Amino acid sequence: MSDSKPKTMGQQLGRRSWAEPWKIKMVEPIRLKSKSDRQRALEEAGFNTFLLRSEDVYIDLLTDSGTSAMSDRQWSGMMLGDEAYAGSRNFFRLEHAIREFYGYEHVVPTHQGRGAEHLISQALISPGQYIPGNMYFTTTRLHQELAGGTFVDVIVDEAHDPASDFPFKGNVDLRKLEALIHEVGSEKIPYVSLAGTVNMAGGQPISMENVRSVRELCDRYDIRVYLDATRMAENCFIIQEREAGYSQTPIAQILKEFCGYTAGAWMSAKKDSLVNIGGWLAVNDADVFDQVRNMVVIYEGLHTYGGLAGRDMEALAIGVEESVDDDHIRTRVNQVRYLGNLLVAWDVPIVRPVGGHAVFLDAKRFFPHIPQDDFPAQTLAAELYLDSGVRSMERGIASAGRDSETGENRHPKLELTRLTIPRRVYTQAHMDVVAETVKSVFDNRDSFRGLEMVYEPKYLRFFQAKFKRI
Ligand code: F0G
Repeated sequence: MSDSKPKTMGQQLGRRSWAEPWKIKMVEPIRLKSKSDRQRALEEAGFNTFLLRSEDVYIDLLTDSGTSAMSDRQWSGMMLGDEAYAGSRNFFRLEHAIREFYGYEHVVPTHQGRGAEHLISQALISPGQYIPGNMYFTTTRLHQELAGGTFVDVIVDEAHDPASDFPFKGNVDLRKLEALIHEVGSEKIPYVSLAGTVNMAGGQPISMENVRSVRELCDRYDIRVYLDATRMAENCFIIQEREAGYSQTPIAQILKEFCGYTAGAWMSAKKDSLVNIGGWLAVNDADVFDQVRNMVVIYEGLHTYGGLAGRDMEALAIGVEESVDDDHIRTRVNQVRYLGNLLVAWDVPIVRPVGGHAVFLDAKRFFPHIPQDDFPAQTLAAELYLDSGVRSMERGIASAGRDSETGENRHPKLELTRLTIPRRVYTQAHMDVVAETVKSVFDNRDSFRGLEMVYEPKYLRFFQAKFKRI
């Protein structure tokens, strides 16, 4: 690893412009269906973008998860799969990459992020315990609850305000964390659950200074800190940009320092690591490793493949290395910002500052006339699709679900519709089309009414719920 930041294209040429550090070798045709086809597809999907068929979608910004374009190096790695049940060569390559770039000692592969969330939650949480974290994530919190725990949000207040320009809205509020420790006792807190570029807050970063302080506080009470590393490379890019002392530090070095403050991490490799499937759990404590390595054989597969093929692990190992390339990550985040800046210029209300992986539309301000119980963010996602086949995702009251004890709807402060940008997939021209789609719905915003939920599954309802127009 070099210890000074490599110069980007723009810096080498002494210009402000930036461009993707790759060229396109293979294309997948996409096409816009007719308005009547879109109308039919949306009704069949119960106004839930998760239930649309991909072939009915024109530009797919549902998620950045598993939707990245792999590089030619990753594809050639797919040919090097050692498909052995035990001890595949590709596993050792993956283990090596995680040790080198994230710095954790023991690695267990899983089929994706929630497989790792399941293992860590079952291994560390006992019924009646509390898990503080910098805002919930849907699957993370559910696994904590299924293990008998209660998630407690200790993120800074600014995270709940979409208009706040606070640079590190993913930070933990140390006073909230310490107050919880005093209230319930440190023995009731198995670990602090941190996440990089906090998804539900709009892709907002946590600073190095904050993770350092969280670690210091937790050391005083003998509490471990675990990290959701899913989008940490993006978080590190924002640290490099905004945090004093890091502007000349390469992303790879920032990542390793950050992870060094934590005892382990779980990972959905379908994001930062540029693969279509995969995840892992990595820890430093030998006793925790012993537990999760034993448990993975029940739920995922042997501890040297954890639900992945050898070829998947090879592509992932290569993706880990590519994901911390300074030029790659700068391009990735700047493309998201390009879309965000177009919308800001048209006064469309979005979460500020623009996050690492997506532009989040603020549905409360977009549709001030639609009450939260009538699903404004879900309505917005449905209308964007109808307008021009652009698929987005609700991140508001439908995603927040019901309180696991009272059964009442949770009413999150943030009611957002997420335009999530897959990595290395769409061009700037696609971003222009998306921006015009949003503008067209925004210009007609007064004409839309909300939705009513007509089918509600028990777990993670947003994935499969159905709605009808009010
Ligand atoms: N943690 C975070 C922060 C995530 O964003 C996700 C998935 C997971 C964990 C779970 O990982 O999907 O591989 O099982 N987020 C996707 C999204 C679904 O669209 O944001 P997984």
